[in-house]
Amino acid sequence: MMGAIVALMTTSARTQVGIVGAGPAGLLLSHLLALRGIDSIVVENRSRAYCEARQRAGLLEAGSVELLRQVGLGVRMDAEGLEHGGIYLQFAGERHHLDFRDLTGGRWVTLWPQTEVVKDLIRARVAAGAQIEFEVSDTEVADQHTEAPVLRYTDAAGTRHEVTCDAIAGCDGFHGICRDSMPPGLLRVAEREYPYAWLGILATVPPSTDELIYSRHEDGFALHTMRTPQVSRLYLQVPADDEIERWSDDRIWSELQRRLGVPGWELKTGPITEKAVSPMRSFVATPMQWGRLFLAGDAAHIVPPTGAKGLNLAIADVTALATALVSLLRDHDPSAAAGYTETCLRRVWRATHFSWWMTTMLHIDPHQDQFGTELQLSQLRYVIASRAAATTLAENYTGYYPLRW
Ligand code: FAD
Ligand code: PHB
Repeated sequence: MMGAIVALMTTSARTQVGIVGAGPAGLLLSHLLALRGIDSIVVENRSRAYCEARQRAGLLEAGSVELLRQVGLGVRMDAEGLEHGGIYLQFAGERHHLDFRDLTGGRWVTLWPQTEVVKDLIRARVAAGAQIEFEVSDTEVADQHTEAPVLRYTDAAGTRHEVTCDAIAGCDGFHGICRDSMPPGLLRVAEREYPYAWLGILATVPPSTDELIYSRHEDGFALHTMRTPQVSRLYLQVPADDEIERWSDDRIWSELQRRLGVPGWELKTGPITEKAVSPMRSFVATPMQWGRLFLAGDAAHIVPPTGAKGLNLAIADVTALATALVSLLRDHDPSAAAGYTETCLRRVWRATHFSWWMTTMLHIDPHQDQFGTELQLSQLRYVIASRAAATTLAENYTGYYPLRW
């Protein structure tokens, strides 16, 4: 009897691709598929306002910028994004500039916040009449190993939906449900936890620097980045289990001044409008596909933010996935879908190594000994003194593998 009532309240529908998660991966996938005539639905458990305001990444590789331009998402980015041709690397009380354009034959990165990428994507999808369901609950995927996988969710009004798809994309981030819906024993996980976290702030004050400053200091790492010419974003290494309540605004600013300061340079301070602690982890799950379920972005892998790679990897994954799904669903060619994991993992492991290297070179491990300290300093001295070493950093930072769309 109960079953009959539940069945009456469930609406059934069909689409080509069911997408779980309206982060950058899910939204961009839906946009790319639509450009090639493939229908999709995106379901997201947060509100549109929450997705558009969630503070995360800032930096896009040139390949990500070019892809966004190519698919009609470049207008605001080109007008308001900030091109960065290098970074400052600071250690032992001295600041050194790395000039990416000179080191790599003209490559750069663009500071265009994830909030803005997401706003542009949602606006474009809504304008195109796409189906994006915000504030859903009880998302489930089933029958992933068949040619008709099913996506179930309850919408904001309480109606249960069952959507039969040709494929499902798990773009639901690290804490989503899609990765766990793969059979136990199938996934192999390689991971590292780091014994520290990042405390990130957003402050209404013009940046005190023209390029990002990555600073190794005995009290811990600090990073000065930015959002706009009026808004600064800064990060501090804090203990892994630290609580935001322990960090008053005054304490944050004085710690930032200490870790970022060099003689003759002043850190401008201003009202802090947001502060949060984020854990740091490297994690790669293999394979990224089971039958007609495909994982993309943070759902499959995460990197510590020191290399600025997570969003760029999400963009690269869904570019490969959209290409594979178009071949599979429109041209009935399964070869790109079968090679999806392998295509993505080459880039993922390069970014995983680079992010681990940047992180361990710049942060202070709570159990660090003299040996570890001397290795870090030696490596940093090598990066600023050797053109070959500096080029390795610059090449990885600006993006090593080109995107194909
Ligand atoms: P997410 O952005 O996590 O999106 C997943 C979505 O799925 C979310 O909206 C979530 O609400 C939704 N969801 C989860 N579960 C469900 C469910 N059951 N049902 C429906 N929806 C669900 N990367 C860079 O490239 N450059 C940077 O400079 C950079 N800086 C960073 C700084 C910080 C402090 C942090 C934390 C990250 C940074 N990153 C950076 C990483 C980047 O933000 C992530 O890699 C990126 O958000 C991944 O996008 P995604 O779409 O895969 O996942
Ligand atoms: C950011 O702008 O938030 C940002 C930039 C570079 C990083 C990490 C975060 O390495």
